[in-house]
Amino acid sequence: MIPIISNTEIAPNIFEMTVEHSRLASKAEPGHFVIAMAQEQGERIPLTIADFDRNRGTITLVITAIGTSTKKLVRLQAGQSLYALIGPLGHPSELGNFGTVIMVAGGVGTAPVYPIARALHDCGNTVISIQGARTANLLFWKDKLAAVSSEHIIMTDDGSEGRKGLVTEPLREKLEMSAAGLVFMIGPAVMMKFCAETVRPFGVRAVASLNSIMIDGTGMCGGCRVKIGSETKFTCVDGPEFDALAVDWDVLLSRQKMYCEEEKCSLAQYKPV
Ligand code: FES
Repeated sequence: MIPIISNTEIAPNIFEMTVEHSRLASKAEPGHFVIAMAQEQGERIPLTIADFDRNRGTITLVITAIGTSTKKLVRLQAGQSLYALIGPLGHPSELGNFGTVIMVAGGVGTAPVYPIARALHDCGNTVISIQGARTANLLFWKDKLAAVSSEHIIMTDDGSEGRKGLVTEPLREKLEMSAAGLVFMIGPAVMMKFCAETVRPFGVRAVASLNSIMIDGTGMCGGCRVKIGSETKFTCVDGPEFDALAVDWDVLLSRQKMYCEEEKCSLAQYKPV
Protein backbone atom coordinates (compact mmCIF):
# COMPACT_ATOMS: atom_id res chain seq x y z
CA MET A 1 0.00 0.00 0.00
CA ILE A 2 1.26 3.47 -0.90
CA PRO A 3 0.46 6.21 1.67
CA ILE A 4 -1.15 9.37 0.30
CA ILE A 5 0.35 12.50 1.85
CA SER A 6 -1.91 15.05 0.18
CA ASN A 7 -4.57 15.27 -2.49
CA THR A 8 -5.76 18.73 -3.53
CA GLU A 9 -7.98 19.95 -6.35
CA ILE A 10 -5.75 22.54 -8.04
CA ALA A 11 -8.15 23.38 -10.89
CA PRO A 12 -11.67 22.19 -11.67
CA ASN A 13 -11.46 18.39 -11.85
CA ILE A 14 -7.64 18.40 -11.76
CA PHE A 15 -6.00 16.97 -8.63
CA GLU A 16 -2.44 17.09 -7.32
CA MET A 17 -1.70 13.95 -5.32
CA THR A 18 1.56 13.40 -3.44
CA VAL A 19 2.39 9.90 -2.22
CA GLU A 20 5.22 8.39 -0.24
CA HIS A 21 7.39 5.97 -2.19
CA SER A 22 11.06 6.51 -1.44
CA ARG A 23 12.37 3.73 -3.71
CA LEU A 24 10.44 5.04 -6.69
CA ALA A 25 11.40 8.65 -5.93
CA SER A 26 15.09 7.67 -5.78
CA LYS A 27 14.93 6.33 -9.36
CA ALA A 28 12.52 8.84 -10.93
CA GLU A 29 13.71 10.99 -13.83
CA PRO A 30 11.85 13.61 -15.88
CA GLY A 31 9.73 11.88 -18.52
CA HIS A 32 9.13 8.69 -16.55
CA PHE A 33 5.64 7.43 -15.85
CA VAL A 34 4.05 5.19 -13.23
CA ILE A 35 1.05 2.89 -13.10
CA ALA A 36 -1.34 3.66 -10.26
CA MET A 37 -4.10 1.44 -8.92
CA ALA A 38 -6.64 2.86 -6.51
CA GLN A 39 -7.96 -0.58 -5.47
CA GLU A 40 -7.01 -4.23 -5.88
CA GLN A 41 -9.74 -4.79 -8.50
CA GLY A 42 -9.16 -1.40 -10.09
CA GLU A 43 -7.86 -0.45 -13.50
CA ARG A 44 -4.17 0.24 -14.06
CA ILE A 45 -3.80 3.95 -14.76
CA PRO A 46 -0.58 5.19 -16.43
CA LEU A 47 0.34 8.66 -15.17
CA THR A 48 3.42 10.72 -15.93
CA ILE A 49 5.45 11.67 -12.88
CA ALA A 50 4.75 15.37 -12.43
CA ASP A 51 7.26 15.92 -9.66
CA PHE A 52 9.48 13.96 -7.31
CA ASP A 53 11.48 14.75 -4.21
CA ARG A 54 14.30 12.30 -3.56
CA ASN A 55 15.02 13.74 -0.09
CA ARG A 56 11.42 13.41 1.12
CA GLY A 57 10.88 10.19 -0.83
CA THR A 58 7.73 11.49 -2.52
CA ILE A 59 6.14 11.36 -5.96
CA THR A 60 3.60 13.91 -7.16
CA LEU A 61 0.95 13.04 -9.72
CA VAL A 62 -1.52 15.35 -11.43
CA ILE A 63 -4.74 13.57 -12.30
CA THR A 64 -7.69 14.72 -14.38
CA ALA A 65 -10.80 13.01 -13.06
CA ILE A 66 -12.31 12.18 -16.41
CA GLY A 67 -13.15 8.46 -16.40
CA THR A 68 -14.36 5.95 -13.81
CA SER A 69 -10.90 4.91 -12.63
CA THR A 70 -9.50 8.42 -12.30
CA LYS A 71 -12.65 9.50 -10.43
CA LYS A 72 -12.05 6.64 -7.96
CA LEU A 73 -8.40 7.62 -7.66
CA VAL A 74 -9.02 11.28 -6.83
CA ARG A 75 -11.58 10.39 -4.14
CA LEU A 76 -8.77 8.99 -2.00
CA GLN A 77 -7.66 11.42 0.68
CA ALA A 78 -4.50 12.15 2.66
CA GLY A 79 -4.07 9.37 5.21
CA GLN A 80 -5.50 6.73 2.86
CA SER A 81 -3.41 4.61 0.48
CA LEU A 82 -3.14 3.64 -3.16
CA TYR A 83 -3.33 -0.10 -3.67
CA ALA A 84 -0.25 0.00 -5.93
CA LEU A 85 2.15 2.36 -7.66
CA ILE A 86 4.55 0.76 -10.13
CA GLY A 87 7.51 2.44 -11.79
CA PRO A 88 9.40 4.37 -12.84
CA LEU A 89 8.50 3.22 -16.37
CA GLY A 90 9.28 4.42 -19.89
CA HIS A 91 12.38 6.14 -21.17
CA PRO A 92 13.38 9.34 -19.38
CA SER A 93 13.59 12.61 -21.31
CA GLU A 94 16.82 13.31 -23.16
CA LEU A 95 18.51 16.09 -21.23
CA GLY A 96 21.46 18.15 -22.36
CA ASN A 97 22.45 21.58 -23.51
CA PHE A 98 20.37 22.67 -26.50
CA GLY A 99 20.80 26.43 -26.00
CA THR A 100 17.26 27.75 -26.09
CA VAL A 101 14.44 25.29 -25.46
CA ILE A 102 10.79 26.14 -26.03
CA MET A 103 8.47 24.13 -23.80
CA VAL A 104 4.81 24.04 -24.85
CA ALA A 105 2.37 22.87 -22.19
CA GLY A 106 -1.30 22.46 -23.04
CA GLY A 107 -3.90 21.93 -20.32
CA VAL A 108 -2.91 19.19 -17.92
CA GLY A 109 0.28 18.73 -19.97
CA THR A 110 1.74 21.42 -17.71
CA ALA A 111 2.31 18.71 -15.10
CA PRO A 112 4.67 16.46 -17.11
CA VAL A 113 6.30 19.51 -18.74
CA TYR A 114 7.36 20.95 -15.40
CA PRO A 115 10.05 18.40 -14.32
CA ILE A 116 11.50 18.37 -17.84
CA ALA A 117 11.64 22.19 -17.95
CA ARG A 118 13.28 22.23 -14.51
CA ALA A 119 15.90 19.66 -15.56
CA LEU A 120 16.64 21.51 -18.83
CA HIS A 121 16.93 24.76 -16.89
CA ASP A 122 19.33 23.06 -14.46
CA CYS A 123 21.39 21.87 -17.47
CA GLY A 124 21.97 25.52 -18.41
CA ASN A 125 19.40 25.91 -21.18
CA THR A 126 17.40 29.09 -21.69
CA VAL A 127 13.87 27.83 -21.19
CA ILE A 128 10.95 29.65 -22.80
CA SER A 129 7.68 28.16 -21.60
CA ILE A 130 4.32 28.59 -23.29
CA GLN A 131 1.43 27.46 -21.11
CA GLY A 132 -2.04 27.23 -22.62
CA ALA A 133 -5.50 26.40 -21.35
CA ARG A 134 -9.10 26.90 -22.40
CA THR A 135 -9.71 29.41 -19.63
CA ALA A 136 -7.94 31.00 -16.64
CA ASN A 137 -9.19 28.66 -13.90
CA LEU A 138 -7.72 25.64 -15.71
CA LEU A 139 -4.20 27.05 -15.45
CA PHE A 140 -2.16 25.56 -12.61
CA TRP A 141 1.53 25.47 -11.56
CA LYS A 142 2.10 28.85 -13.25
CA ASP A 143 4.58 29.91 -10.56
CA LYS A 144 6.46 26.62 -10.67
CA LEU A 145 6.83 26.75 -14.44
CA ALA A 146 7.75 30.45 -14.41
CA ALA A 147 10.44 29.78 -11.78
CA VAL A 148 12.37 27.51 -14.18
CA SER A 149 11.78 29.64 -17.28
CA SER A 150 13.53 32.74 -18.61
CA GLU A 151 10.23 33.68 -20.18
CA HIS A 152 6.79 32.30 -19.36
CA ILE A 153 3.92 33.02 -21.76
CA ILE A 154 0.31 32.28 -20.85
CA MET A 155 -2.31 31.74 -23.53
CA THR A 156 -6.03 31.13 -23.00
CA ASP A 157 -8.65 30.35 -25.63
CA ASP A 158 -11.05 32.94 -24.17
CA GLY A 159 -8.47 35.58 -23.20
CA SER A 160 -9.40 35.35 -19.50
CA GLU A 161 -5.68 35.32 -18.62
CA GLY A 162 -2.53 36.05 -20.61
CA ARG A 163 -2.94 36.41 -24.33
CA LYS A 164 -6.04 35.23 -26.15
CA GLY A 165 -5.29 32.60 -28.74
CA LEU A 166 -3.52 29.33 -29.39
CA VAL A 167 -0.08 28.26 -28.18
CA THR A 168 1.07 27.99 -31.79
CA GLU A 169 1.08 31.82 -32.11
CA PRO A 170 3.85 32.57 -29.56
CA LEU A 171 5.59 29.36 -30.64
CA ARG A 172 5.90 30.71 -34.20
CA GLU A 173 6.97 34.14 -32.91
CA LYS A 174 9.69 32.66 -30.69
CA LEU A 175 10.96 30.42 -33.50
CA GLU A 176 11.21 33.48 -35.74
CA MET A 177 13.02 35.51 -33.09
CA SER A 178 15.37 33.02 -31.43
CA ALA A 179 17.63 30.20 -32.52
CA ALA A 180 15.90 27.47 -30.54
CA GLY A 181 17.70 24.14 -30.34
CA LEU A 182 14.69 22.13 -29.22
CA VAL A 183 10.92 22.42 -28.93
CA PHE A 184 9.19 20.18 -26.43
CA MET A 185 5.42 19.74 -26.37
CA ILE A 186 2.94 17.97 -24.11
CA GLY A 187 -0.80 18.46 -24.26
CA PRO A 188 -3.84 17.39 -26.25
CA ALA A 189 -2.90 15.46 -29.40
CA VAL A 190 -4.48 18.04 -31.66
CA MET A 191 -2.42 20.79 -30.02
CA MET A 192 0.78 18.77 -30.47
CA LYS A 193 -0.10 18.08 -34.13
CA PHE A 194 -0.37 21.80 -34.87
CA CYS A 195 2.71 22.63 -32.78
CA ALA A 196 4.66 20.08 -34.86
CA GLU A 197 3.40 21.68 -38.08
CA THR A 198 4.42 25.11 -36.74
CA VAL A 199 7.95 23.88 -36.00
CA ARG A 200 8.45 21.93 -39.25
CA PRO A 201 9.45 24.84 -41.58
CA PHE A 202 12.06 26.02 -39.06
CA GLY A 203 13.99 22.74 -39.12
CA VAL A 204 14.21 22.69 -35.32
CA ARG A 205 14.16 19.41 -33.45
CA ALA A 206 10.79 18.79 -31.79
CA VAL A 207 9.83 16.20 -29.18
CA ALA A 208 6.29 15.24 -28.18
CA SER A 209 5.26 13.14 -25.21
CA LEU A 210 2.39 10.82 -26.08
CA ASN A 211 1.70 9.71 -22.51
CA SER A 212 -2.01 10.48 -22.76
CA ILE A 213 -2.74 7.65 -25.20
CA MET A 214 -1.50 4.84 -22.94
CA ILE A 215 -4.06 2.41 -21.55
CA ASP A 216 -2.49 -0.35 -19.43
CA GLY A 217 1.15 0.74 -19.78
CA THR A 218 2.45 -2.82 -20.12
CA GLY A 219 3.21 -3.20 -23.83
CA MET A 220 0.48 -5.88 -24.08
CA CYS A 221 -2.83 -4.17 -24.88
CA GLY A 222 -1.59 -2.48 -28.05
CA GLY A 223 -3.73 0.57 -27.34
CA CYS A 224 -0.78 2.94 -27.43
CA ARG A 225 0.46 1.88 -30.88
CA VAL A 226 1.70 4.86 -32.89
CA LYS A 227 3.22 5.33 -36.31
CA ILE A 228 6.56 7.13 -36.17
CA GLY A 229 7.81 7.63 -39.72
CA SER A 230 7.64 4.18 -41.31
CA GLU A 231 7.84 2.34 -37.99
CA THR A 232 5.20 1.17 -35.56
CA LYS A 233 6.02 1.91 -31.93
CA PHE A 234 4.40 1.39 -28.56
CA THR A 235 4.24 4.55 -26.49
CA CYS A 236 4.59 2.75 -23.16
CA VAL A 237 7.59 0.62 -24.16
CA ASP A 238 9.38 2.72 -26.79
CA GLY A 239 8.37 6.18 -25.49
CA PRO A 240 6.60 8.07 -24.20
CA GLU A 241 8.63 10.74 -26.07
CA PHE A 242 9.03 10.71 -29.85
CA ASP A 243 10.15 12.94 -32.71
CA ALA A 244 7.07 15.15 -33.06
CA LEU A 245 7.78 15.73 -36.75
CA ALA A 246 7.68 11.98 -37.46
CA VAL A 247 4.47 11.16 -35.55
CA ASP A 248 1.47 10.29 -37.74
CA TRP A 249 -0.91 12.57 -35.84
CA ASP A 250 -4.00 11.66 -37.87
CA VAL A 251 -3.66 7.95 -37.00
CA LEU A 252 -3.05 8.86 -33.37
CA LEU A 253 -6.10 11.14 -33.24
CA SER A 254 -8.34 8.45 -34.69
CA ARG A 255 -7.00 5.84 -32.23
CA GLN A 256 -7.84 8.12 -29.31
CA LYS A 257 -11.53 7.75 -30.11
CA MET A 258 -11.41 3.92 -30.03
CA TYR A 259 -12.64 3.43 -26.49
CA CYS A 260 -15.11 6.35 -26.23
CA GLU A 261 -18.14 4.04 -26.09
CA GLU A 262 -16.64 1.78 -23.39
CA GLU A 263 -15.68 4.84 -21.36
CA LYS A 264 -19.21 6.23 -21.63
CA CYS A 265 -20.72 2.87 -20.51
CA SER A 266 -18.32 2.63 -17.57
CA LEU A 267 -19.10 6.19 -16.48
CA ALA A 268 -22.85 5.59 -16.76
CA GLN A 269 -22.51 2.70 -14.28
CA TYR A 270 -20.17 4.57 -11.91
CA LYS A 271 -21.69 5.34 -8.52
CA PRO A 272 -19.46 7.24 -6.08
CA VAL A 273 -19.61 5.63 -2.60
S1 FES B 1 -0.46 1.04 -23.09
FE1 FES B 1 -1.00 -0.99 -23.59
S2 FES B 1 0.57 -1.59 -24.96
FE2 FES B 1 1.14 0.40 -24.35
